[in-house]
Amino acid sequence: MGRESLTIRDNRTDEKYELLITDGSVRAIDLRAIKIDENDFGLITYDPGFSNTGSCRSTITYIDGQKGILRYRGYPIEELAEKSSFLEVAYLIFNGDLPDQDSLREWVLKIRSNSEPPKMIRKLISSFPRTADPMVMVMSAVTALSTFYSQASNLSNEADREVQLLKLFGHMPSIAAAAYRHMAGLPFLDSDPEMDFAEDFLRMVFQDGTEFTVNPIFSHAIDVLFTLHADHEQNCSANAMRSVGSSLPDPYLAAGSAIAALSGPLHGGANAAVVKMLEEIGSKDRVDSYIKRVKNGEVRLMGFGHRVYKNYDPRAKIIKKMADQILEVADPSPLFDLARYLEEIALNEDYFVSRKLYPNVDFYSGLIYRAMGFPSSMFPVLFAIARTIGWISQWEEFMKDPDRRIARPRQIYGGHVLRHLT
Ligand code: CMC
Repeated sequence: MGRESLTIRDNRTDEKYELLITDGSVRAIDLRAIKIDENDFGLITYDPGFSNTGSCRSTITYIDGQKGILRYRGYPIEELAEKSSFLEVAYLIFNGDLPDQDSLREWVLKIRSNSEPPKMIRKLISSFPRTADPMVMVMSAVTALSTFYSQASNLSNEADREVQLLKLFGHMPSIAAAAYRHMAGLPFLDSDPEMDFAEDFLRMVFQDGTEFTVNPIFSHAIDVLFTLHADHEQNCSANAMRSVGSSLPDPYLAAGSAIAALSGPLHGGANAAVVKMLEEIGSKDRVDSYIKRVKNGEVRLMGFGHRVYKNYDPRAKIIKKMADQILEVADPSPLFDLARYLEEIALNEDYFVSRKLYPNVDFYSGLIYRAMGFPSSMFPVLFAIARTIGWISQWEEFMKDPDRRIARPRQIYGGHVLRHLT
């Protein structure tokens, strides 16, 4: 093999440049040396949506989109979903290795003892109109935590940072449940740190009256879905967490930006958009005309396609299997049948095959949440609870990164060069 470098010849000047290749990448800043003369700024890369730009080094999540592989800290998602609990996976993502029994017990205690946010957060949530989007309520509550934990702005010490990050992660289920209960006109419930994470969350959301039993099929499904959603390397919201975090606000504020990023229909809002789309289609005989509209570019097939996966999203495979089991017993809804039919039709259509568009994590997850009784406005909120562990782990990794700098991309200016007032 030759040298680990790239030779570029600039045809404008006939000059040659050698760029080092490290880990399959060249440094964009090295292109700056390529100039036509001394006054030239030098080349920059143009990459809208960062399709081919590595923004950081990370050891958290590995994805091979061509092969449909997803691993957290080296462990395949299929094994983690089958054999580990969400909090165990959260430990893995945050700390780098799976915990032994004692470390897991200690970790669960730490997270669960942080389950209650300051009571004033409920007041804040109560002040929203009942019709408010719960994702916005959650985002506001998370950013408001910054005003309760003023020590959070001290970012210099790892142990101090961890205290704040675990508060943020630990508070999320209670904040999410409070947003739901405000919408539903139900009184707020305290969390019970003795209870299992997923069971306590479902109880905080749905208990209405004194008697309440959690359906174990549902709590297991929540645990698995949260595991599947826990991290996904440099997606739009993780990028927001790092990018906003790069100017060094406290992590609650950075997480607020990540929640906003997640809420959009092209990211975490897609699960709700899928259910809306299925409701709109309504029946199998209308699938063909919907697919025609997709092919004409009028609408997108929500829950299909991914920037990274050009193969079946491995999370969607697991969710589909789980949905098969759950929905048959919990909600034999015609929408699920319709979703399966729509998937089959799409996977046999050249439009989707040629563009490598497969179902993603959101195609079936909304239907499962719906079967549990969640309104669609809560689906992105559920995604956010799970993804918080990814965000805080990405943020912490970034804080320790010796290459960390404020995010400040370049632009290609296309406006007037110079104008004067007359
Ligand atoms: N339906 C119809 N056409 C699509 C879709 C879709 N869902 N996704 C991509 N395409 C087409 C797109 O029109 C383009 O076609 P052409 O080459 O003829 O112009 C081609 O496929 C490439 O699409 P793109 O927009 O360049 O792809 P992207 O990598 O920029 O977008 C995406 C990725 C996820 C935003 C997009 O696939 C999409 O909008 N999907 C629907 C929304 C969705 O399900 N989002 C959840 C993503 S998974 C969960 C998460 O990470 O949040």
